[in-house]
Amino acid sequence: MKPVKVGICGLGTVGSGTFNVLKRNAEEIARRAGRGIEVAQIAQRRPNPKCDTGITPITDDVFAVVDNPEIDVVVELIGGYTVARELVMRAINNGKHVVTANKALIAVHGNEIFARAREKGVIVAFEASVAGGIPVIKAVREGLAANRINWVAGIINGTGNFILTEMREKGRTFEDVLKEAQALGYAEADPTFDVEGIDAAHKLTILASIAFGIPLQFDKAYTEGITTLTTADVGYAEALGYRIKHLGVARSTEKGIELRVHPTLIPADRLIANVNGVMNAVMVNGDAVGSTLFYGAGAGMEPTASSVVADLVDVVRAMTSDPENRVPHLAFQPDALSDHPVLPIEACESAYYLRIQAKDHPGVLAQVASILSERGINIESIMQKEAEEHDGLIPMILLTHRVHEQHMNEAIKALESLEDVVGAVVRIRVEHLN
Ligand code: HSE
Repeated sequence: MKPVKVGICGLGTVGSGTFNVLKRNAEEIARRAGRGIEVAQIAQRRPNPKCDTGITPITDDVFAVVDNPEIDVVVELIGGYTVARELVMRAINNGKHVVTANKALIAVHGNEIFARAREKGVIVAFEASVAGGIPVIKAVREGLAANRINWVAGIINGTGNFILTEMREKGRTFEDVLKEAQALGYAEADPTFDVEGIDAAHKLTILASIAFGIPLQFDKAYTEGITTLTTADVGYAEALGYRIKHLGVARSTEKGIELRVHPTLIPADRLIANVNGVMNAVMVNGDAVGSTLFYGAGAGMEPTASSVVADLVDVVRAMTSDPENRVPHLAFQPDALSDHPVLPIEACESAYYLRIQAKDHPGVLAQVASILSERGINIESIMQKEAEEHDGLIPMILLTHRVHEQHMNEAIKALESLEDVVGAVVRIRVEHLN
């Protein structure tokens, strides 16, 4: 049988990894796919020294690949929302299948892209868009299809996890570690996407859709970054038996879906709390299976290429199948998606870590306790440290039971208005993941 012809748009980190893996493992891949997969054209802005493209035709115009009648599958690896969206829509309109690693594109424009793909009977595959080399989309969409998914929680940004790990283990500065992540090709073109939780929110949006059967709703995701975390809080969390991770949490509740990315205390003995460096991990809890954990490299050249190439193999296998009988893009049949709402952060529920800087006066702790109890907030534990030398203030650290964010907001406002409390109360959400 003739090989399937693929056009790669973008020869950066993931593009070159994809080309190299397709070349190196060509025979093994053909044995799996049932046909060879041949890169028939590449669009690149500049040559990539990590990739010997040999005699493969090269263009600097991505649309030349999309309009090339020889090409069966377009691999979109240019990133971003604008050109990538035009490129993918044009590829679909031209009747080509698409493989993409572009989480921003899928999270923001996926509903429109999948609708058009259905009309045209083509596949848009996006395994590499979430957690790099971990085949978590396939696992949730297919492997866990029996389950009602209760929640998903993941460390889904390698750069952020690398920064938190290096800061905690080696005391390195934020800027220093970020520079290294950029040099290693992990960070986004705009690294604020990594450290402010936007990249993780893109991925969480995709995971939530395939877990709960809801349309993609990136605009409703709550995001909080890691830039304001202090080493003091990292240390106090450790002393209490927790690790701080930048976690994406999607939880199905009766009132709606929680969709949130924020720094989170996790008990140090959970496997996911020990996922370090650039590694990613996603926990999925289903009613039948219980808790599962998927772990692996969340970024990087060949790990991400591993997912891109797996998608290519899937596309090649499914090309000749009836489009109605393929695995739906968002796991659930498109006419069976639910309109269960995504909840605002105020309606979400979690436990909390609070750090209050208080003057060393009698009765402060009693005032703090009464503000919390008046709002039905149950204290799990309290740790009070020695007065700080530089300002004489007492750091008071509390862990609470689960409570609605709205009640916690009101409590924090009341705490900050106490005469003996100085500055803002630090609040970090806590998830026990059990
Ligand atoms: N910037 C992303 C990360 C790349 O650090 O995880 C993979 O999506």
